[in-house]
Amino acid sequence: MKTIKLNIDKTSSFVSKEVIYSYEEQANSANDTLHEGTGAGNDFLGWLHLPSSMSEEEIADLEATANTLRQHCEVVVVIGIGGSYLGAKAVIDALSNSFEAQQASHKNPLIVYAGHNIGEDYLFELQEFLKTKKFGIISISKSGTTTEPALAFRLLRSQLEAQQGKAAAQKLIVAVTDKAKGALRTLATQEGYKTFVIEDSVGGRYSVLTPVGLLPIAVAGFSIRDLLAGAMHMETICGTTTPFDQNPAALYAATRNALYQGGKKIEILVNFHPKLHFIGEWWKQLYGESEGKEHKGIFPAAVDFTTDLHSMGQWIQEGERSIFETVISIQQPNHEMRVPSDEANLDGLNFLAGKRVDEVNKMAELGTMLAHVDGGVPNLKVELPELNELYLGQMLYFFEKACGISGYILGINPFDQPGVEAYKKNMFALLEKPGYEAATKAIKAKL
Ligand code: PA5
Repeated sequence: MKTIKLNIDKTSSFVSKEVIYSYEEQANSANDTLHEGTGAGNDFLGWLHLPSSMSEEEIADLEATANTLRQHCEVVVVIGIGGSYLGAKAVIDALSNSFEAQQASHKNPLIVYAGHNIGEDYLFELQEFLKTKKFGIISISKSGTTTEPALAFRLLRSQLEAQQGKAAAQKLIVAVTDKAKGALRTLATQEGYKTFVIEDSVGGRYSVLTPVGLLPIAVAGFSIRDLLAGAMHMETICGTTTPFDQNPAALYAATRNALYQGGKKIEILVNFHPKLHFIGEWWKQLYGESEGKEHKGIFPAAVDFTTDLHSMGQWIQEGERSIFETVISIQQPNHEMRVPSDEANLDGLNFLAGKRVDEVNKMAELGTMLAHVDGGVPNLKVELPELNELYLGQMLYFFEKACGISGYILGINPFDQPGVEAYKKNMFALLEKPGYEAATKAIKAKL
């Protein structure tokens, strides 16, 4: 198997090799701390060895459950928010035909999402769409108590039961949740749903390689074995015995911290393929929720190029010089298409005739990188040989491992998220949830 590559050459005019290598000891020691389980958040390190520890029995169970849903459903609704949906959506979008949803007949069930917002129109339109469909539900919540997915599940479960009857609906619902706690676990036990467990030791944003991500990805028709094999390859490469300069996770963590200390407070993840949009969303959650603490942390942003070169491109080229970019570069597209020649050449494009469309894209990528570096934006590159399960698996694990190392270098706990509770408390107080009486009184006094 080839390996994805990290290229930091285009940071050299902003931060010297010496400065990056001054983080070597910290990065290696952060990696050791992760593996020894002696750092902050050490009860959430189950993701470290997930790829290599997944048993054949677990994989076969996931595949069998996925096949049941594939056989019986035209549409599968994946309910979840944050880490309970972004990994699956990122991988499924990256691997799917861009027009799968628009095609009249599907080889694979269509995967749609709910529980990641509280938009009434979104939920109404989803229910309308599902009225004529044979659908199933994968309800994912580690805590089993998160409001957004719980609300969506209540609505969609009742619709499914009304459309199919309670007994048939029961076979089309799978819950992924805690082994014992939470309302979703209680409901699943009472209703007899098929369930998969999210281990206590794996936090939401590190859960893509658990049933949280693997079940929807398998339902969508992709190889979870290849995804895990890619991740396992990276697990080995990013291990504690690998020297710093050959460990991409350690080198990435060191480089971004060196840039951050040099005043680059924003990292922009860039892609040149629209299918990768949700890889950016997954990455933003991973790094934002892991590092944004104690009034520290790089702000993670993401753009889709060349689309956003016609909007955010201006800011990136000439705005405040507080940013750096990390580009996900796909070496070889999965399809081949050449620009046709045109005798009249009224559009003036004959200079491209015979060239691959990807060559045009690659020159846009190279030209953008050179322009941004000239404009004061350091550039890192993560190169994937192709867009498939193997290399996506490698990339997911690479970013997870680098996030753990980077968080420890920064001096925060990369595995908690105390800040996300603030909005929930206010929302429950405003909605007058039982138990929140005093908070309701206090918040209403502020209005
Ligand atoms: O990464 C995280 O921990 C969060 O984004 C959670 O995944 C998200 O809040 C959903 O939580 P739960 O799976 O408990 O419903």
